[in-house]
Amino acid sequence: SRHFAAEERQRSPQLDAQPTSAPGSGYNVAVLGSGGGIGQPLSLLLKLCPRVRDLRLYDVANTAGVAADLSHIATAARVSAHTGGDELPDALYGADLVVIPAGVPRKPGMTRDDLFNINAGIVRTLCEGVARYCPHAWVAIISNPVNSTVPIAAEVFKRAGTFNPAKLFGVTMLDVVRANTFVGEALGVDPATVNVPVIGGHAGVTILPVLSAGTPKLSVPEGQARALMARIQDAGTEVVKAKAGAGSATLSMAYAASRFVEACLRAMAGEVGVVECAFVASSLVTDLPFFASQLRLGPGGIAEFLPLPRLNAMEQGNFESMKAELRSSIQKGVDFMNT
Ligand code: NAI
Repeated sequence: SRHFAAEERQRSPQLDAQPTSAPGSGYNVAVLGSGGGIGQPLSLLLKLCPRVRDLRLYDVANTAGVAADLSHIATAARVSAHTGGDELPDALYGADLVVIPAGVPRKPGMTRDDLFNINAGIVRTLCEGVARYCPHAWVAIISNPVNSTVPIAAEVFKRAGTFNPAKLFGVTMLDVVRANTFVGEALGVDPATVNVPVIGGHAGVTILPVLSAGTPKLSVPEGQARALMARIQDAGTEVVKAKAGAGSATLSMAYAASRFVEACLRAMAGEVGVVECAFVASSLVTDLPFFASQLRLGPGGIAEFLPLPRLNAMEQGNFESMKAELRSSIQKGVDFMNT
């Protein structure tokens, strides 16, 4: 049972070695930061997901009310509330997947990197909990700057001896969702039928939508393609400006994250052909240690790195010019853990 006292678990490390849920029986999903702007609608969408068995809501505040509210929804997922560090172990123990939207969001004029000082420490602490209480879980990180918080998570897991690069993901799904929406508008088709791979990272120029490799095929003049690419890269800032100090994207992010989590749970359950983009430890695709690209997911996490799509000249230019920024954001995360 996941209701063992935390101290007992610490004395019995073999409990942590228990396998995670068997396929088909539903999965235990923990949302860390569940009381926030993303956390609440994300938890709502996960409460509606038939593959979720236990939905553990963790935050430093605001969990009991959100959990009571969601628990009245007539779906099978069981909802529990866990508030503050003392209750983190129960939120995590036996979790198959942990999704992390904890942290501060941007205000107008801020870059994602401006969030580093606060969010780096939050992600480190939460990942230390993951390493201790659910070392086999898949981990999906939403907290920005993703280009640095994912390397921080990897360092935490390496130190704990639990790092499995196949199960650590930075969630870049919102970039894919935005690309699909804007390309759908440009093509005059239902965006649900569009699929544009987005590679690189999750900030400004590191977001590289490969418009030329999308389906259905988008044939527009280069100027229009450039404008579309810029809009996708700046779409987060569009929302930050419109919210005028009240935060960044939350509802579209919740949608994107629930889509990503559901894809993970389908892969975990053995569904074949699950392919999604995410920012991951990646050695085969480029010379950068972390990179977002298309991944085939299987029961154990990343099963295959798909080859990068063929880039046209404009995309290749963007690819070359993002590398330095992405490399330094990754290094910033690694350095944070070394100081
Ligand atoms: P928010 O401020 O509305 O919610 C954050 C939640 O995290 C709050 O409920 C807060 O209590 C909680 N929290 C703070 N410290 C915590 C800790 N130590 N442990 C557990 N919970 C803690 O912020 P919002 O809008 O939900 O954004 C969350 C993060 O997601 C931000 O870092 C934002 O930049 C990022 N984000 C990422 C996107 C992506 O595409 N990956 C898109 C949009 C936002």
